[in-house]
Amino acid sequence: MKRISVKAALSSASPVDQLKIQGWVRTKRDAKGFSFLEINDGSCLKNLQVVVEDRIAAYPILKEIHTGAAVEVEGALTASPGKGQTWELKAADLQLVGHADAEAYPLQKKRHSDEFLRTIAHLRPRTNKYGAIFRIRSESAFSVHQFFRDRGFYCLHSPIITGSDCEGAGALFRVTTLSPELFQNKSKPELLQEDFFGKEASLTVSGQLEAELFACALKKIYTFGPTFRAENSNTPRHAAEFWMIEPEVAFADLSDNMDLAEDLVKSMTRHVLTHCQEDLELFARFVDKDLMPTLEAVAQEPYIRLPYAEAIDILKSSGKAFEFPVKFGTDLQTEHERFLCETHFKKPVIVYHYPKEIKAFYMRLSDDDRTVAAMDLLVPRVGELVGGSQREERYEVLERRMIESGLHPEDYWWYLDIRRYGTVPHAGFGLGFERFLMMATGVGNIRDVIPFPRTPKSLEF
Ligand code: 4AD
Ligand code: MG
Repeated sequence: MKRISVKAALSSASPVDQLKIQGWVRTKRDAKGFSFLEINDGSCLKNLQVVVEDRIAAYPILKEIHTGAAVEVEGALTASPGKGQTWELKAADLQLVGHADAEAYPLQKKRHSDEFLRTIAHLRPRTNKYGAIFRIRSESAFSVHQFFRDRGFYCLHSPIITGSDCEGAGALFRVTTLSPELFQNKSKPELLQEDFFGKEASLTVSGQLEAELFACALKKIYTFGPTFRAENSNTPRHAAEFWMIEPEVAFADLSDNMDLAEDLVKSMTRHVLTHCQEDLELFARFVDKDLMPTLEAVAQEPYIRLPYAEAIDILKSSGKAFEFPVKFGTDLQTEHERFLCETHFKKPVIVYHYPKEIKAFYMRLSDDDRTVAAMDLLVPRVGELVGGSQREERYEVLERRMIESGLHPEDYWWYLDIRRYGTVPHAGFGLGFERFLMMATGVGNIRDVIPFPRTPKSLEF
């Protein structure tokens, strides 16, 4: 007996005498002489309609089959007389694999709020919307690896546990094997001596520093992994654990970096438009009516490139009353970012040459001594999707910038060493994977595009 997915069954070119499908019951409807089951197996958005006639031996089992149950159906794939589907499965045999209590099953046939579904994140992928999100997530991840592989980049697995703070922002999750009771009457050096690494350790906020070391050997690399930030910002765009894509390229400057970021975002967007059409249509219908034109623009039109100073001028003369007022030297807030790409330019914008005071120590200092070779790529719905820079490749300048930022150069001896042996101009960026998914689906909260969100005071599942 051939076992196939619902997706394969629905796209069959011809009837099939005998096949088996396995999945979960979305609905059951009884009619005179037969019943309908709608089966979903996660392979696509659509369900396969199964017709169970009362003359088959297994018919009585239907009494125990309710929404949510796992079933196995054997039968013939035949042309469906009903509206909305080409094929249906005429059951010859039916098995209840896993029971679901009709009353207790939390996913009833009505629209549930995103907030409620977050409380049952173990079941939400069984809804149309979340099934679609996580299929799009999977396709998007694949598109990232394909993009870089096609361009001769190597995939680098940078470490998760680290002894350094890449962004220098201090929003670190500590890693320790010590139990809290020990902390009472011991000094910090005593504690560290007992701890696993014998020094302070944390979860990485970015794979960039290690990525730079490898770019200065393999030339073009990228990392794609989880990153962790303990910033206590309870916003719809921040998660404590999120996935980041970080390419790093040797012999590259800021302009090469902007080209690469634009190519990557376009390519990922084009990929989901091509490969996730059915799932995207769900979001275009129910979540964001402008989704398709927005994505087409992101995939096709050239992005605006705008120096930070000009961005500030545009914002100041916009006449809009922003919650956070702008002047040269302030960081852009989401409201500013969204104004630039949604209202003013109506397409993605790359802002570059930010003042050095608001950016990280590793960004290359410009000749004006005021700005650094930084860039942020802003997209509609989301604001900042990408943050990156050309890196400071000059030993003395980097060391000075570290000290100015309150870092101890000796802790980063290996990072500085790269600037002593065959240093080269190099550049890279980080793309927040969940933010890309928010843009791709129109979903407004980061908690709904990651399987199990980790946010302040929330660690279920
Ligand atoms: O701008 P960020 O902080 O840049 C870096 O970490 C650099 N080290 C990257 C590099 O140059 N290799 O973060 C990069 C991107 C942001 O633009 C945003 O999309 C995402 O990561 N991001 C977050 N996404 C979800 N939750 C958070 N708390 C995020 N913080 C940053
Ligand atoms: Mg940033």
